[in-house]
Amino acid sequence: MNAALPCLVPDMPSVLELQPYLRSMDQVAWYTNFGPLAQKFESRLTRVLRRRDRRTGSIGICTTSSGTMALELALGAMNLPPKGRVLVPAVALPATATAVIRAGFVPLVCDVDPQHWVLTPEIAEKHIGKTRVDAVLPVAAFGPSLDSRAWDEFSARTGMPVLIDAGAAYPDQTVGDRCPVVFSFHATKVLGIGEGGALAARDLQITTRAKCLSNFGFTEGEVLVPGTNAKLSEYHAAVGLAQLDRWAGIVQRRQAVWRLYDEILHEVLPEQVVRQAGKPSSAPSLMVVAIPGLPAARVLDRLEMRGIQGRQWYCPALHLQPGIRDHAEIVGDQLPHADFLSEHIIGLPFHSRMTREDVSAVTRKLAAAIEDAAQ
Ligand SMILES: Cc1ncc(COP(=O)(O)O)c(C=O)c1O
Repeated sequence: MNAALPCLVPDMPSVLELQPYLRSMDQVAWYTNFGPLAQKFESRLTRVLRRRDRRTGSIGICTTSSGTMALELALGAMNLPPKGRVLVPAVALPATATAVIRAGFVPLVCDVDPQHWVLTPEIAEKHIGKTRVDAVLPVAAFGPSLDSRAWDEFSARTGMPVLIDAGAAYPDQTVGDRCPVVFSFHATKVLGIGEGGALAARDLQITTRAKCLSNFGFTEGEVLVPGTNAKLSEYHAAVGLAQLDRWAGIVQRRQAVWRLYDEILHEVLPEQVVRQAGKPSSAPSLMVVAIPGLPAARVLDRLEMRGIQGRQWYCPALHLQPGIRDHAEIVGDQLPHADFLSEHIIGLPFHSRMTREDVSAVTRKLAAAIEDAAQ
């Protein structure tokens, strides 16, 4: 059965909103290869990221054809040793681990913090005392940003390179002095452009190297390192610019739906669901809850029967994905928190077209699905 209420609906610009950018692209007949729209998109992104932070100084940006490619290029630009071992949390999109593998490194998959559902500097520190780790790749799971100052301190203290996967955490994720950040602009993200991503770093050598890698490895007409083609096209940059023009409205609509969920979940299911701890995003991207005691798949099935589409975002966790496990090392005897989340997480419909009635219907039907699944 097709669910009447879909889980995600992208909030994209209309043809009219895109038109001025598409027209300017046609006027100069420049469609990719670091064209004027990609350059403009990068400078607007840089401005936003600099404004989010009290730190001064430059931020370099390298836009890419996807967030996954930004991760892969960032890892390639960080001067890690060949076959380096990169600590990643088990609760992540497969993209995090596949980027590590495809960049020629080995993911070391570890457990996450039980309240915040992320890899923290404390967890990383525990592992680097026990096994060889060459870099750490924490993930801003489900959207809330990570504390880049805490990761900077960790990196300074341990000498460990850190790359933050902030796929869904634009624009809250600040760029560390020592920690570059990757964003995704997939259509379902808050700043959705279809497909696209960006690497942001305060070490401009990293973004310069990533840019060179995104263009086959060319530097001044010569390929000095084998790169790939991961450039952002002018078409996608046009969507990005139109989205930045609509930004205030996009955020307002998402915040309104988030507030409705806060209110109605608390009212209807005060005890049965667990939420991710910490400060929510200023531009929320997903609504994820955990239902302790019941398999998420069972609840989702009952929810779908009631016309509501849900998802098990980031599940199965990385250590349970056969194609990743075969190329990775699992650190720690057990990963109880990742196992719990993998079993119990549910992504509820969350998009800017939702009304109070929709949120109320999802929540009531979730309560009924939980009751039904418990029988
Ligand atoms: C945390 C995280 N990492 C990586 C990615 C991959 O980005 P993309 O889909 O743009 O390749 C995403 C988005 O899907 C994400 O949310």
